[in-house]
Amino acid sequence: MKTLKYDEIGYWSEVKLDIIKDYVAAYTTVMAGQKKARFQYIYIDAFAGAGQHVSKRTGEFVPGSPVNALNIPQPFLEYHFIDINDLKVAGLEAASREHKNVFLYNGDFNKIILDDVFPRARYEDYKRAICNLDPYGLHLDWSIIKKAGEMKSVEIFLNFPIMDINMNVLKHDKEKVDDEQVSRMNRFWGDESWRQFGYAESLQGNMFGETEYEKVTNEQFEQAFRKRLKEVAGFNFVPEPMPMRNSNNAVVYYLYFATQSVTGEKIIKDIFKKHAQRQDA
Ligand SMILES: C[S@@+](CC[C@H](N)C(=O)[O-])C[C@H]1O[C@@H](n2cnc3c(N)ncnc32)[C@H](O)[C@@H]1O
Repeated sequence: MKTLKYDEIGYWSEVKLDIIKDYVAAYTTVMAGQKKARFQYIYIDAFAGAGQHVSKRTGEFVPGSPVNALNIPQPFLEYHFIDINDLKVAGLEAASREHKNVFLYNGDFNKIILDDVFPRARYEDYKRAICNLDPYGLHLDWSIIKKAGEMKSVEIFLNFPIMDINMNVLKHDKEKVDDEQVSRMNRFWGDESWRQFGYAESLQGNMFGETEYEKVTNEQFEQAFRKRLKEVAGFNFVPEPMPMRNSNNAVVYYLYFATQSVTGEKIIKDIFKKHAQRQDA
């Protein structure tokens, strides 16, 4: 019989969980306090996990993002949790038993989110949604990000997995990348334009005076993606993402937040600032 093995998470994931927890609590409280509140709020976790994890630091259980969202003071109208792993969905079911407004889906996020979840978060129905896009690595599809931007009612948290990208796609020698890795990156970025942002002309050229290319910095690459979230996906506000670092101080991923709401931007900027100085303990 298969048994559920909880994910062991690094300190940076604990920081991420705290950021999202703080945001959903603050945002729903501000919105519930508005006199003319006309909107209903939905929470979506497209890579929901089992509902809890084990901290590598302490060995103790840590609530996952879906459980944190269930426990906020001003609850959402609906919660939609998707995971491809049936044991994790069973874990989520156990963790959310007390709540009636939880929709669980066992399968691939792509089809489920487009067919079953986003239609419940339509702008014209006065719905608003917070959607957490939290894959392990480069496993997301740009069409989901773009759809969220187009809907105008959905704001997203998004992991930009720079370590996976550096290891597998943005190699120093740009000719040495597997086709499979190129398609993963194309799927995430939405087209092949990442190539033009990922490398810049070297000032020196090579010894024969020919043009040579060198890899851009992490910051330059994440800025190009940030611009894309605004200009191609159509999010009005995309603050500087938060670099999530491991114990060697290397950036594992950038945590982006993208929204149409000036209030959302203001809240997340304060929260990013609050958590920015936390280092691996
Ligand atoms: C980083 S974990 C999510 C952690 C969770 N959001 C939290 O912070 O508590 C990523 C999850 O994505 C799930 N997953 C991987 N591929 C998936 C897919 N194609 N569709 C849906 N879920 C997927 C994995 O089973 C895993 O539980």
